[in-house]
Amino acid sequence: MITRDQTINKVTHRYPDTIEIFNRFKVDACCGGAHSIADTAAANRLEDLTSLLHALNRETRRLGEKPLSQVIQEVESTHHAYLKQEIPALKALLARLVQEAEGDPTAAPAFELQQDLSDLATEINEHLYKEERILFPAIRRLEEALGAEGPIDMSILGCGTHGPIAQMHFEHEEVRGWLERIRGALEAVEATGQAAQETASLRPRLELLQDDLLEHIRAEEEDLFPRALDLENRAIEKMRQSFET
Ligand SMILES: [Fe+2]
Ligand SMILES: [Fe+2]
Repeated sequence: MITRDQTINKVTHRYPDTIEIFNRFKVDACCGGAHSIADTAAANRLEDLTSLLHALNRETRRLGEKPLSQVIQEVESTHHAYLKQEIPALKALLARLVQEAEGDPTAAPAFELQQDLSDLATEINEHLYKEERILFPAIRRLEEALGAEGPIDMSILGCGTHGPIAQMHFEHEEVRGWLERIRGALEAVEATGQAAQETASLRPRLELLQDDLLEHIRAEEEDLFPRALDLENRAIEKMRQSFET
């Protein structure tokens, strides 16, 4: 973490990109480099030292983070791969449970659970498709373009990431709703005492599905999506600057 007492030279030596931030705040990183950030900021009559420190720490955090293409690859190879394997397996397990319950007039909860899981599966399949085919490639293109030398080609923006990310947030909320429904439906099935063997294996697997989905959503909403939006804003800024020069 960068603090007010560190010398500017120490910061700019480790993170050369921070020179642009000192320039933006009109703090002389060249002549004042040997002094602490606080002393040089005061000498340059900067009143808002907190904002400067905030901007510096935000930038160094960003520089120390994994590339987004790596975050995406990890999300796809863990959470997405797990869902693609586990959901069909759970559907097959539910189908056996429903078969056991066929003809039993008290078997309605089993059918309800099967329907809820089927609806969740449809929702998730569409969601993963949109992320993997639309949003994630757009984020990869942005990151690649920002890392390359020279101006950014406007065509890489496409329809941008703001709209798709808003849609993903909406769908995550729907998934949370389905998980809630499935929890209730499972309890109703367990209360019937039917097909105890299948029901017993369902609970830990549905709990694991829930935990994995919530962690998956958290990783996207708290890390991947905010950083992708920031990336797009920086790409637009870089484009704007190239138009002005
Ligand atoms: Fe995802
Ligand atoms: Fe998602």
